[in-house]
Amino acid sequence: MKLLPVISLLALTSATSALDNGLMRTPPMGWMSWERFRCNIDCENDPKNCISENLFRDMADRLAEDGWKEMGYDHVMIDDCWSSMLRDKDGRLQPDPQRFPGGIAKLARYLHDRGLKLGIYGDLGTHTCGGYPGTTLDKIDTDAQTFASWGVDFLKLDGCYSNEEEQQKGYPLMSKALNATGRPIGYSCSWPAYRGGLPPSVNYTLLGEICNLWRNYDDIQDSWDSVQDITDWFFDNQEILQPEAGPGRWNDPDMLIIGNFGLSVDQSRSQMALWAIMAAPLIMSNNLRTLSSEARAILQNGAAIAINQDPMGVQGRRLLQERSQIEVYWRPLSQSASALVFLSRRQDMPYRYHTCLAKLNYTAGSYEAYDVFTGKTLSGLSATTEFTVSINPSGVVMWYSFPLSTTEWQCRQMSTTTISGFPLPLKHQHGYITVD
Ligand code: GLA
Repeated sequence: MKLLPVISLLALTSATSALDNGLMRTPPMGWMSWERFRCNIDCENDPKNCISENLFRDMADRLAEDGWKEMGYDHVMIDDCWSSMLRDKDGRLQPDPQRFPGGIAKLARYLHDRGLKLGIYGDLGTHTCGGYPGTTLDKIDTDAQTFASWGVDFLKLDGCYSNEEEQQKGYPLMSKALNATGRPIGYSCSWPAYRGGLPPSVNYTLLGEICNLWRNYDDIQDSWDSVQDITDWFFDNQEILQPEAGPGRWNDPDMLIIGNFGLSVDQSRSQMALWAIMAAPLIMSNNLRTLSSEARAILQNGAAIAINQDPMGVQGRRLLQERSQIEVYWRPLSQSASALVFLSRRQDMPYRYHTCLAKLNYTAGSYEAYDVFTGKTLSGLSATTEFTVSINPSGVVMWYSFPLSTTEWQCRQMSTTTISGFPLPLKHQHGYITVD
């Protein structure tokens, strides 16, 4: 009985900060079908690439067997075009019988057996964006229960074919309905993307209370232009968006397209770096069966992932847009560490950018910087030490940096080398980097 006040106080404080399902305290990671496989339902002529249970099982195998799961990529998310055009006789959604003959529950078991989670797609409205049955207000409870009964772990609720009023009612109702199933189900709301992404049309305080993540802006396409357009929008609006993110509640600039056709190796590093700075969900949409080794190395970069998954969960910001077309991004991390990204928007040649940490708001002290993509470490930087980074056109240099006190510095000098080149604080945060 004595515990009651404490518990209710806790309930109160968490209810005002993030959806109270305890999920996604760091940005979700995994794979989603949409950007790469769209609404390809032609299983007769394109059996390997059509939206079917085989595709999701294949991707689950790849996540489980190719080292992805260990890095944190643990969700397989079905997007649009999975369902039959008709609900069943009890009004429930059902998968297309030809393309998902085993049903969704069996697919969920397949994933769970491999330590993975299953996401599914719904749409608040009469139809999904692809024209499949939508979830109208009267179907919210039924659909939440159906998803839970199948063992689904995550729902992306799109917003095609509904109006402002229906969205205002429907997104909070689905949140309640998911909670009422008793099954922990991560909840992604596309609501803001349908209302222009900014206040006063979008109420981020409410979104944080009812959703784990939300799509704020346009769909990503397989091009560097699209990545630039999205990042510009998010950072141009950082005063509004940045404070809204935190554990359990994330802005979602859409999927990672690394490994497809539109990005060079440098641009792929740039997307990975910027998504890490943004504390964005790391949801790949690519073909994991045929990924190049370069794409895999970028997506499985342990330091970039550790930065993205930092437990403090503070979204980063753009610090500078130089006339030289160099931009600097920064994210504070736990244990007084931080991440820096130097991005070149130039189209000529590698640019040698000169600066010092003091110009980037770092306070006096001694710092160490680990270069995320080269694995090199710069030691003994003071805030006023001038340094030069060479940044490729549409590429980045990304640093993980942390201050060293004199004692720490002496300890590190004496210790043997760090595991796989990672600086000390990173090692403690992530199970996959072992310390012996
Ligand atoms: C919308 C969403 C996309 C995808 C498609 C599916 O465009 O924003 O992410 O889900 O619908 O039709």
